[in-house]
Amino acid sequence: MNGIFVTGTDTGVGKSVITAGLTSLLRKRGVDCVALKPVETGCKLNHGELFPEDGHFLWRASQESISLDDVTPFRFSLPASPYRAAALQATRLRISDIIEHIRAIEETHDLVIVEGAGGLFAPIEENRTFADLMKKLGFPVVLVARLKLGTINHTMLSIEALTKRNLDILGVILSKCDMEEGPEEQYTPNDIKRMIGNIPLFQFPFVNVSVSDNPQEIGAMMEKVLGKESFLEQFIC
Ligand SMILES: Nc1ncnc2c1ncn2[C@@H]1O[C@H](COP(=O)(O)OP(=O)(O)O)[C@@H](O)[C@H]1O
Ligand SMILES: [Mg+2]
Repeated sequence: MNGIFVTGTDTGVGKSVITAGLTSLLRKRGVDCVALKPVETGCKLNHGELFPEDGHFLWRASQESISLDDVTPFRFSLPASPYRAAALQATRLRISDIIEHIRAIEETHDLVIVEGAGGLFAPIEENRTFADLMKKLGFPVVLVARLKLGTINHTMLSIEALTKRNLDILGVILSKCDMEEGPEEQYTPNDIKRMIGNIPLFQFPFVNVSVSDNPQEIGAMMEKVLGKESFLEQFIC
């Protein structure tokens, strides 16, 4: 199996930043790694085509070694769940088509890192969610959560859903997406660590926009965050 799935406790928690950082770091270590955002909603029109902002960011992280069409083949304009955004464009998304696309890319690269949309239970089909896609795909998972009030609950709910599906959790990354800091935040990582037992926990700090918009810079930061003996080593031959 040549993939990692990056999911999050929510939208806007730092999945794209973390996916870009992991991709960039692995590429620096000599792995032919590409990042995919197979489904993106909320795409704006650009020269008559839907432009995937996340996809474009991951395309940059992959050093353009894959086409933008392959990074994000399924694009929708409404900023909603994939199921609803597709329905409003009078189309239907099929999990099997998304998986077929990911498998094809997986065959031509050392490793694919796939970013989900929203969290685990964001619907893709009428009665199927990203959790179903992830279960079928079977990739080990990185869970991204924002370091903010409420994150203990969101993190534990996601871990419970992943564990129930026997998905391997490589690590949880707490991402500091905004500058403000609540009084509880200094305690949150330790409290989560106690609750998740053996699952590795990492903290990605708040970075300024010159870093958060630059995949190479995020990769360098990711190297510090993960340390030398992290879960990434198993993907480096
Ligand atoms: N560690 C961080 N430091 C600063 N800004 C961040 C950080 N992580 C995420 N952001 C910013 O927060 C917003 C949401 O992050 P993003 O990775 O797009 O989340 P998601 O992919 O989960 O929707 C983006 O504007 C991103 O640049
Ligand atoms: Mg994203």
